[in-house]
Amino acid sequence: MKIKNVVVIGSGTMGSGIAAHLCNADIPVTLLDLKTEISEKARERIHKSRPPLLIDRSKINNIKVGNITDDFSVVEKADWVVEAVVEKIDIKHQIYEKIFKSRKEGAIVSSNTSSIPIKVLSQNLNKEQKKRFLYYPFF
Ligand SMILES: NC(=O)c1ccc[n+]([C@@H]2O[C@H](COP(=O)([O-])OP(=O)(O)OC[C@H]3O[C@@H](n4cnc5c(N)ncnc54)[C@H](O)[C@@H]3O)[C@@H](O)[C@H]2O)c1
Repeated sequence: MKIKNVVVIGSGTMGSGIAAHLCNADIPVTLLDLKTEISEKARERIHKSRPPLLIDRSKINNIKVGNITDDFSVVEKADWVVEAVVEKIDIKHQIYEKIFKSRKEGAIVSSNTSSIPIKVLSQNLNKEQKKRFLYYPFF
């Protein structure tokens, strides 16, 4: 499967780092947060980062920003949706419910959790949804 379009939800330390790597690979990415101001600031941080997160500053054009209320429809076109919001299970569950209502068939959904077991993260997903749900535990 070729990943042509990614949405990263949560534009803090991890979400912005993930977005920067995608930019470097020339994969268009949309960073969503609670408010567009937050994801805009994350975009600026990536652009100005020292040491640089971007291999070339012009790569920043691969990042679009928005908020989860007005811009969630970007999820409908994403091949991969990365959840990188705060480590709170109720917030992550709310996000997954929204993502799985909107994502296109076959799109991958992943979590950047540092400590929540996949069984707990995916407890509200059905069998088919679980097949497209990935996570990257750091332990
Ligand atoms: N920081 C680390 O070193 C590290 C390492 C590995 C994994 N993680 C994991 O990565 C995830 C993100 O961590 P972080 O350090 O980037 O956190 P962070 O606090 O830097 O960023 C979290 C972002 O999520 C946003 N957010 C909160 N609720 C939201 C919602 N409902 N919708 C959209 N955005 C929302 C916040 O506004 C914030 O910008 C967590 O699950 C964390 O455990 C963090």
